[in-house]
Amino acid sequence: MQQVIFLGPPGSGKGTQAARIAEILQIPHISTGDILRANVSRETPLGQQAKTYMDRGDLVPDQLVLDMVEERLKEPDAQKGWILDGFPRTVSQAEFVEEKLLDSDGSSSGGELQAINLDVPDDVLVERLLARGRQDDNEETIRRRLQVYREQTAPLIEFYSDRGQLHDVDGDRSMDEVTACLKKAIAPE
Ligand code: AP5
Repeated sequence: MQQVIFLGPPGSGKGTQAARIAEILQIPHISTGDILRANVSRETPLGQQAKTYMDRGDLVPDQLVLDMVEERLKEPDAQKGWILDGFPRTVSQAEFVEEKLLDSDGSSSGGELQAINLDVPDDVLVERLLARGRQDDNEETIRRRLQVYREQTAPLIEFYSDRGQLHDVDGDRSMDEVTACLKKAIAPE
């Protein structure tokens, strides 16, 4: 069972590359940002609670996100593996993955979980996001998302490096070059 986590700052290409790798590996691409945005647009109770945080560029509280991910990963398509894009994003979310979501066959201790860190300079991130123009892609929110990433998500690089599960990938290249590099790292032939 292949289990892949995409780390990386906003705009580093997590969503773009996670979708491509999911297609190659034939496992679901699960983006917490996409699930939250779908809840916001359907105005569900979860979406109503999440919206204020997302509009500010802050993380949605762990408990809301943990329940949501746990539910999604119970679905049949996720039983043969998954790619998580934008989750975990805090050390406590990463601990939740270790405790609850990994295989019961012991692969939680190293095994098949792989974490990808996409590395892209800040000026390129800001340029990409401003060009895209999603609801949370304005300068103020982008600045806050980058700060939150540095404070709360970047520590996961060390977390997964310490466990021998990290692949550092230069994301400041063409989309096809990044995909080729990821394919080599995650699914060597
Ligand atoms: P989320 O949706 O995860 O947004 P993000 O982390 O800010 O990431 P982005 O989607 O902006 O960027 P990306 O790295 O996926 O890059 P993409 O491929 O889109 O989260 C949004 C919000 O939801 C958070 O702020 C938070 O509030 C909440 N949230 C989500 N998960 C949470 C969690 N676990 N806990 C708590 N809260 C959570 O690419 C960006 C652009 O660049 C695109 O236009 C793309 O076409 C372009 N691009 C990509 N690759 C390249 C390339 N190689 N060359 C040129 N352009 C490229």
